[in-house]
Amino acid sequence: MTNYLIKNGTIVTEGKSFVGDLLIENGYIKKIGHNLQVDSTIQTIDASGKLVLPGMIDDQVHFREPGLTHKGDIQSESRAAVAGGITSFIEQPNTVPNAVTQDILEEKYKRAAEVSFANYSFMMGGTNDNLEEVLKTNPRNVAGIKLFLGSSTGNMLVDNQEVLEKIFSSTSLLIAVHAEDEGTIRKNLAEHKEKYGEDIPVQCHPVIRSEEACYLSSSKAIELAKKTGARLHVFHLSTAKETELFRNDIPLKDKKITAEVCVHHLWFTDKDYAVKGNFIKWNPAVKSEVDREGLWKALLDDRIDVIATDHAPHTLEEKSKSYLNAPSGGPLVQHALVALLESVKQGRITIEKLVEKFAHNPAILFQVEKRGFLKEGYHADVVIVDSESEWTVDKSNILYKCGWSPFEGTAFSSKITHTFVNGFLAYADGVVNTEHKGQRLLFER
Ligand code: DOR
Repeated sequence: MTNYLIKNGTIVTEGKSFVGDLLIENGYIKKIGHNLQVDSTIQTIDASGKLVLPGMIDDQVHFREPGLTHKGDIQSESRAAVAGGITSFIEQPNTVPNAVTQDILEEKYKRAAEVSFANYSFMMGGTNDNLEEVLKTNPRNVAGIKLFLGSSTGNMLVDNQEVLEKIFSSTSLLIAVHAEDEGTIRKNLAEHKEKYGEDIPVQCHPVIRSEEACYLSSSKAIELAKKTGARLHVFHLSTAKETELFRNDIPLKDKKITAEVCVHHLWFTDKDYAVKGNFIKWNPAVKSEVDREGLWKALLDDRIDVIATDHAPHTLEEKSKSYLNAPSGGPLVQHALVALLESVKQGRITIEKLVEKFAHNPAILFQVEKRGFLKEGYHADVVIVDSESEWTVDKSNILYKCGWSPFEGTAFSSKITHTFVNGFLAYADGVVNTEHKGQRLLFER
């Protein structure tokens, strides 16, 4: 395989930024230093003036395979991911069939080994009646268990309190939850139907899937985790109020309760529904500016540990339906990192802190083996970014199978120029190299 020397880039890792060289040999980071000298068999990439970052580890994506491949598939969406600087992803079980048996789960791994351009892991889905299967999950090579405590795409609601308590108390695996209280949502929806009939405006989405629905469900999950000692990870916080439930006085590696925020909740607010409509309809809903600011604050003070995408493509046709008929979710993996880099330019977050949240912390939180850092001996999952290269998202440069993006028309000032996955150049200057496939993530547990 080709080996690479990335020269004179601004290397960002473990809280530091410095100009240096990074040598990739046989899939691993062999050396980081200054003026590294190599022979002519090694391909040199001049990264002067560019950022050299660890690839993003996205702990929540929906790639729709099997069963929903008209929306996206592992090949198409992992292609968009590597173009966006995401080198590893953790995919969710609400595919068709749902990934709720070990056999179905392993089929997904098999498929990814054939077609995924990024490294991959798939979560095992918990339901009201599959505890036995859940408990067979191998912590060494599966990221964790996913529970939908609120319904979303895929009918995977787990609402039996007894079952929940059993799952929480009988596994040491990480349990990731989608936390929205179903009763509250149903009540709010009924009230809105009474008022608007079938024509509910999309602006009501955060009122239906309300702050209260999120807070109630997140607090119940946390209460149960405390009672049972379970390892809980709360996905996609969307309200300022929920952030009060999380702590920042313990190091991440010792936390038993952790939290994620997604790019769309850090970017959009309810003011954007007027222009974007259902294209920013997500579960949980994008909420107010106060919520967005509260999420940023908690991210910066470490009550929120990681940033992810919740990449969840639906077709243009599906998203063009009325509020009640349009599914929730949107594609993000190609644009998440460049969007986050805008926040660095705006002075909201430092580049070092951002790298911690999208690469280091997911690696620590899931105990991912030898990834998430630019460190000698680690897998060479590396991204080079030109942060002075403006481009605009439009239909001609979108790689998602669904062909649209909530960022269409948005100008970004950073461009991903190179993405290495396990030392292979998976993406360079606009072209995805389809030759090499990613690896199954392993976990140090
Ligand atoms: O909006 C969402 N869509 N949120 C989720 O958690 C699931 C996702 C989907 O799969 O469509």
